[in-house]
Amino acid sequence: MTKFIDSQYVHDMAQTTNNLYRHGWDERNGGNVSLRLTAEEVGAFSDTDKVLRQIPIAFDASELAGKYYLVTGTGRYFKNMVEFPERDMGLIRINDKGNEVDLMWGFNDGGEPTSEFPSHLMSHISRLKQDPNQRVIMHCHPTNLVAMTFTVPLSSKRFSRTLWKMHPESIVVFPEGVGVIPYMCPGTNEIGEKTAAKMNDFRVVVWPHHGVFAAGDSLDETYGLVETVEKSALIYTTIRAQGGEILQSLTDKDFRDLIKRFDLTANEAFLTPDAQTETVE
Ligand code: 13P
Ligand code: ZN
Repeated sequence: MTKFIDSQYVHDMAQTTNNLYRHGWDERNGGNVSLRLTAEEVGAFSDTDKVLRQIPIAFDASELAGKYYLVTGTGRYFKNMVEFPERDMGLIRINDKGNEVDLMWGFNDGGEPTSEFPSHLMSHISRLKQDPNQRVIMHCHPTNLVAMTFTVPLSSKRFSRTLWKMHPESIVVFPEGVGVIPYMCPGTNEIGEKTAAKMNDFRVVVWPHHGVFAAGDSLDETYGLVETVEKSALIYTTIRAQGGEILQSLTDKDFRDLIKRFDLTANEAFLTPDAQTETVE
């Protein structure tokens, strides 16, 4: 039987975190990722059937009891995941108590799940209600998107429309828009609750002056979602850095054309500008 370290899951997680690092979105220990695995998937390996230790978590996750997550460790650097996967990530099972997890593999130097694990688990709960195939929560610090949180009003509608206007791919990839919460202290249950509430309507939630939480059915899809959001944020930032006035961008009519062409279910509330004069934000 194959060992878990040789699995596609560990490989894909290491590659994804490495890509996040190489994009410059996860400096030092910035960012964290969790990937849900099924009991059948975990059962296919020779070394994932024993509880190595129990780790307390600061949130009652009993709703997820029995579920398995491969998750990055707190304080770990994404640039090291490829070389030290068994040290810097862990496979955990949420136990029946809900406030503890069983470590099945990894964290072999005594490590623990990310400090944002409550936010991950709360977001998984929200997204699983919307999408039974939900697998991944990804948190990272995409530079241009974070920069926009200093200059664009912190409203989900303003952010979504601004990003949609930068590139036709945007509304295709995130037709529901992006959710924006107020600035809050990271690593707390409060920011997790706010994020999870937004996750009922959005797969991308912007944390002002910090980063983004994104959800999806696979590592690739979730990564692609963040990439697309950040690409539009980069275009916006580049325009602003050019110092010029925005003379033209995608219009509401262009959004409608994309919705028709790609058969999108877009967020109706974001499809018309607010009453006040709206330029590009
Ligand atoms: P961790 O090292 O605990 O995963 O925290 C990184 C981070 O980005 C916090 O928001
Ligand atoms: Zn962070």
